[in-house]
Amino acid sequence: MTVEDQQPLATLGILGAGRVGSAIAKRAAESGIDVKVATAKDPREISLILEFMAPGAKAVTAAEASAQDVVILAVPLHKYEDVDPASAAGKIVVDAMNYWAPTDGTVDKFENDSRTSSEVVQSHFSESRVVKAFNHIGYHEFASDGRPAGDPDRRALAVAGDDAAGKAAVMQILEVMGYDAADIGPLSAGVILEPGTRIFSGRQSLDSLVAIVAEESVLAG
Ligand SMILES: NC(=O)c1ccc[n+]([C@@H]2O[C@H](COP(=O)([O-])OP(=O)(O)OC[C@H]3O[C@@H](n4cnc5c(N)ncnc54)[C@H](OP(=O)(O)O)[C@@H]3O)[C@@H](O)[C@H]2O)c1
Repeated sequence: MTVEDQQPLATLGILGAGRVGSAIAKRAAESGIDVKVATAKDPREISLILEFMAPGAKAVTAAEASAQDVVILAVPLHKYEDVDPASAAGKIVVDAMNYWAPTDGTVDKFENDSRTSSEVVQSHFSESRVVKAFNHIGYHEFASDGRPAGDPDRRALAVAGDDAAGKAAVMQILEVMGYDAADIGPLSAGVILEPGTRIFSGRQSLDSLVAIVAEESVLAG
């Protein structure tokens, strides 16, 4: 049985309707996932854009998007604390964000913390199960790179998290969207997915992703 065969498929909420949020929403809607998208503003402000960019995805309030089984954070990293953690309490929260100082500028909170960026995000969403995923693929690739299971060009994406059920739900969503999914371990292991790493900068099949993870683990001792 593959992850894709597991039931039921989670409903998906996406916070952020920019490059990443709308690319994931497009692919999710095409893949038959019930997907709701929000920004901090009135949903009417994004409904037209979504109709064009991600037909089938529904524009909702942030509260409604946060009430879905799996909630993807696709907001600029320096804005994640604007999202009320109580709204996603008990939910699986996917951190698709990156701390990438050369492009986004430095943020003291991340510069001065030795944890991975997703562990810092987890401490804000203390009542949620944070899974790091979707961060090491460009938005422009996400909507077009999905392939059916077994396709030789199928791309693999990694998930890291401390909650097994949360990771399984996210892996199922990735597989349904046309990606192989690799569980690389706890949230702290997500350091090998961050900007500047081999995984972040490359494009991997499942075999090559698993091989890199094994090599990085050996190097880390
Ligand atoms: N670009 C990529 O290829 C890529 C790939 C992987 C990961 N990432 C990461 O994904 C994150 C988003 O990147 P992006 O390129 O999609 O950014 P973006 O195009 O600037 O979009 C950000 C979206 O977040 C919304 N937003 C801001 N504050 C919000 C809040 N409090 N609640 C809900 N929505 C809010 C914005 O809405 P308004 O416009 O109304 O403010 C906008 O729709 C970043 O952390 C980035 O590092 C990017």
